[in-house]
Amino acid sequence: MHGIKKWFGNFQAVDDVSLEIRPNEFFTLLGPSGCGKTTLLRMIAGFELPSEGSIRLDGAEIASLLPNQRPVNTVFQNYALFPHLSVAENIGFGLKMLGQPKAKIAAAVAEMLKLVHLEGRGNDPVTQLSGGQQQRVALARALAPRPKVLLLDEPLSALDLKLRKSMQIELKRLQSETGITFVFVTHDQEEALTMSDRIAVMSHGTVRQVGEPWEIYDRPAERFVADFIGDTNFLDVDVVAIEGERARVRLASGAEIPATFPADIRPEGRVSIVIRPEHARAVAPSPAAPLAGTVHDVVYLGTDTHLHVRLADDKTFLVRQQNARSGPCGFAVGDSVGIELSDDVAQILRD
Ligand SMILES: Nc1ncnc2c1ncn2[C@@H]1O[C@H](COP(=O)(O)OP(=O)(O)OP(=O)(O)O)[C@@H](O)[C@H]1O
Ligand SMILES: [Mg+2]
Repeated sequence: MHGIKKWFGNFQAVDDVSLEIRPNEFFTLLGPSGCGKTTLLRMIAGFELPSEGSIRLDGAEIASLLPNQRPVNTVFQNYALFPHLSVAENIGFGLKMLGQPKAKIAAAVAEMLKLVHLEGRGNDPVTQLSGGQQQRVALARALAPRPKVLLLDEPLSALDLKLRKSMQIELKRLQSETGITFVFVTHDQEEALTMSDRIAVMSHGTVRQVGEPWEIYDRPAERFVADFIGDTNFLDVDVVAIEGERARVRLASGAEIPATFPADIRPEGRVSIVIRPEHARAVAPSPAAPLAGTVHDVVYLGTDTHLHVRLADDKTFLVRQQNARSGPCGFAVGDSVGIELSDDVAQILRD
């Protein structure tokens, strides 16, 4: 899609979005509530028309086609199964609407039941199924006509955490087994990182960054993306030199470390960098450590311990230590510590 804008009256819900979603990709739109994810999805589906811009599928413009003329299907958050129909009738519903012969529908339904692990449940009333099973029926119903693109709008948000986790794996499997392009909407960053080939991070109707999960997490281009995904430390530093694809930056302590930066900028002067808490380690005070401070909070989380370290400039730096051994972490409130950083963990943010 290119240059997509959408106004509702004088409110602009989508502002100049251009995205290229690749065939057979698991592509996720990630962003906070109200940022325009559903609106974008509804325009791909054809339930909403863009005010401006074009949407193409395999090179052909689809923006003017009716929803049922597009090789696209949607799974909504409230998946709205037909309660008076059986599991099999629900799955075959779209094919029946397309006027396909009974034998063909039966074969497709059997295949779908197998795909979503509901063999033998075809004749059950759909209301007898659990929430997760109903969600799988909704998926099978949307997949049965073999759309080129499946749109999924927060389809897992009604499920409890455990079921949600197993459905995440299930969805990823369904996507790679069917080869159908999935466009998935969520505001849950962990869900996006778990499932996606690529993620578009959205804010206020715009796309802020597109990339593979590791790029979005390790190489956020701006503060919003860094902040929205995971725990983050921001530090103000001075750019000393550019050396190929890295900048050399000076921390407040005077220590110099390399930092990556977004491809579209050439950083200079005072800039912000991000460092993830798990890329730092607390150590005994040492002149070799690039950062130093005083522990003012120790939060034990079972798998990890979070150390909140107050730096000389009074900012707090979060260090996440993995509890690789059992027992307490060895640091206490009031301790002076040095902070070591793993190699190549700093990323400069665009202003
Ligand atoms: N039909 C409409 N008329 C007027 N405003 C609308 C309409 N649909 C959406 N909006 C507005 O557009 C903005 C984006 O809405 P949208 O539903 O796309 O957000 P979202 O990212 O899907 O949020 P959520 O995570 O809460 O579902 C919101 O401010 C919303 O109020
Ligand atoms: Mg929405």
